[in-house]
Amino acid sequence: MLKKLSIILIFFAVVTQQQQQERNLIDGIINLLETGNRQYNVFEPRDMPTNQLRASYDFIVVGAGTAGCVLANRLSENPDWNVLLIEAGNSENYMFDMPILANYLQFIETNWKYKTEPSKKFCMGMDNGQCNWPRGKVIGGSSVLNYMIYTRGNRRDYDHWSAMGNSGWSFEDVLPYFKKVENFSIPAYQDSPYHSQEGHLGVSYAPFKTKIADAIIEASQQNGFDYVDYNGAKQVGVSRLQVSLRDGVRESSSRAYLHPIRDRPNLHVKKQAMVSKILIDPNTKQTVGVEFVRDNVPYRVKASKEVILSGGAINSPQLLMLSGVGPKKHLTKMGLPVISNLKVGHNLMDHIALGGLTFIVNNTFKSLRTDKIITTENLKLYFNEHKGPMTIPGGCEVLIFQDLENPTDKDGYPDIEILFQGGSIVSDPVLRKDFGITDEIYDAVYKPIQDEETFMAFPMLLRPKSRGRIMLKSPSYQHKPYIFPNYFAEQDDIDTIIKGVRLILNITSQPALQKIGAKLHAIPIPQCAHLGFGTDPYFECMARHFTFTIYHQSGTCKMGPRSDKRAVVDPRLRVYGVKGLRVVDASVIPEIPAAHTNAPTFMIAEKGSDMIKQDWGYMQ
Ligand SMILES: Cc1cc2nc3c(=O)[nH]c(=O)nc-3n(C[C@H](O)[C@H](O)[C@H](O)COP(=O)(O)OP(=O)(O)OC[C@H]3O[C@@H](n4cnc5c(N)ncnc54)[C@H](O)[C@@H]3O)c2cc1C
Ligand SMILES: *[C@@H]1O[C@H](CO)[C@@H](O)[C@H](O)[C@H]1NC(C)=O
Ligand SMILES: *[C@@H]1O[C@H](CO)[C@@H](O)[C@H](O)[C@H]1NC(C)=O
Ligand SMILES: *[C@@H]1O[C@H](CO)[C@@H](O)[C@H](O)[C@H]1NC(C)=O
Repeated sequence: MLKKLSIILIFFAVVTQQQQQERNLIDGIINLLETGNRQYNVFEPRDMPTNQLRASYDFIVVGAGTAGCVLANRLSENPDWNVLLIEAGNSENYMFDMPILANYLQFIETNWKYKTEPSKKFCMGMDNGQCNWPRGKVIGGSSVLNYMIYTRGNRRDYDHWSAMGNSGWSFEDVLPYFKKVENFSIPAYQDSPYHSQEGHLGVSYAPFKTKIADAIIEASQQNGFDYVDYNGAKQVGVSRLQVSLRDGVRESSSRAYLHPIRDRPNLHVKKQAMVSKILIDPNTKQTVGVEFVRDNVPYRVKASKEVILSGGAINSPQLLMLSGVGPKKHLTKMGLPVISNLKVGHNLMDHIALGGLTFIVNNTFKSLRTDKIITTENLKLYFNEHKGPMTIPGGCEVLIFQDLENPTDKDGYPDIEILFQGGSIVSDPVLRKDFGITDEIYDAVYKPIQDEETFMAFPMLLRPKSRGRIMLKSPSYQHKPYIFPNYFAEQDDIDTIIKGVRLILNITSQPALQKIGAKLHAIPIPQCAHLGFGTDPYFECMARHFTFTIYHQSGTCKMGPRSDKRAVVDPRLRVYGVKGLRVVDASVIPEIPAAHTNAPTFMIAEKGSDMIKQDWGYMQ
């Protein structure tokens, strides 16, 4: 391991010392991310050779993402149960753990690389009018690609779930599970009744922050925001990001939940195996097992108790539909049998922001520019002490939650989040590629400032009204589904984002940010210039061009009571009309919370695990 690290250090040293082209730097990092692959085999559970799998398991969990790793851990706590965890992707590697590299993980095989269908109403500034929708295809799932931002949402989110008929999901019901997840190490909040140090997942501040972040926090306070623990009693306010990091290193679901149990004999993990179908007896509607494909060879494994689907908000609905569970009309059109007629794939939700809002600061203040921070010194600091700028998750540093309807209510229900990054699209050559921004727009708007010190602010819509849909493109598991996000179908969603921009402009005009010379970058997007830079119509046009997903896809296998015509699973996460099948992941979310979705998904998985144990008469 140490030898490997020194090779990396030398590699980076060569790259940075010789000041090679930007292109070489990117290629170098991506190459390292790829070739470092499978290093984690020594920490992760090993890949069980296909011929050593059992013919039947008590439980089969499909997908080793945020939720799947939790389920595999919790269900295999019962030594009498055999559990199989099946994952389409391969192992994690230690390069993925370096928080600053989050932007780079979308270019390697760890990403499903989904794209939304072309649109003329949103994602207009992206190549072909399509937004990139990365999703983790790796042990750890999207918790390996994500920006580690740790937010639970508002208590009213869960009280609302409960009021929709989902008994057992009120805030009071779910708080114990949020606490069960975390080992929370921010000193100021150690004794808070909202936090715990007993959980598997490390949550902390990043060990490093920029001076720009300090100025943003101060300016927010000058604008009237309190500094808060947004995962505590009240959500409204400003804070540094609480992130899923342990000791400066990414804490993926796999690191937190699988590494500690890698040798548990009753848990088998099958990697690089794509589940192509859930096997359901069409007469009894009993789930009997799954079919998976490894190296083009199909295999079948039985489940004597349950199959649990944790494939995430795109793959879970796809797999259900491929297996005969979905909207009757759509399945029939695809030539698929209909085992249970449910609104699978509907209710697609996401959080989006107006992207690209960039502020230039006095160049004596250093922002997070990849070309400047990937230095031998900083790499040594990271590898030896887990400190320094490499520990900042993709450059994200500060956030604000605000209730724009009730701006003076310190205990409001936020409809907007302002996320600040200590750098911008010009700070890292891959960022614009992550989002797929067209060269034409990049060259016109951002190239002129590419050497400046900058920060970026995203107004992120927390409670979107628009709903989208996932649909099959074909009856084959090999074809990615259609994605129709339907962003901004409701004008309210646009209006809230524009108000968010106004809030950002208020904050950036405060003395603390003026002191560092913060100035809005005012070159207009050519396609919006006729509306007049800075007007409401301009910002609407900007939002429709730079529709940045914050990657919170959810809701496509909606949880709801039997009376809810759009429900796919009941409040115990059991698929309606089928026996022995549950969905436990971000797709069961009935209404997206005012939160980044990783923490809520962890909570859902912890609670789902307990429900399964209860239903099978096993509680510790
Ligand atoms: C780039 C990015 C940044 C993000 N940033 C944040 C953030 O900062 N904070 C936050 O809270 N949230 C963030 N999110 C969202 C968050 O990570 C997800 O909401 C969460 O991980 C969802 O968990 P899940 O268990 O539902 O799905 P996933 O974690 O996506 O897991 C699904 C797993 O199932 C596997 N799988 C799917 N289909 C099959 C199949 N047929 N056979 C076998 N295996 C299969 C997949 O490969 C994957 O490993 C981000 C997401 C992305 C992609
Ligand atoms: C929680 O984290 C602290 C600090 O990293 C560690 O010392 C402690 O052992 C962890 N607790 C658990 C229950 O894992
Ligand atoms: C930038 O900051 C330096 C040091 O505080 C100051 O001397 C200089 O005038 C500032 N420049 C601008 C353009 O504000
Ligand atoms: C911004 O500040 C102006 C002037 O103080 C105020 O009228 C407006 O409501 C503020 N907007 C937001 C969204 O906070």
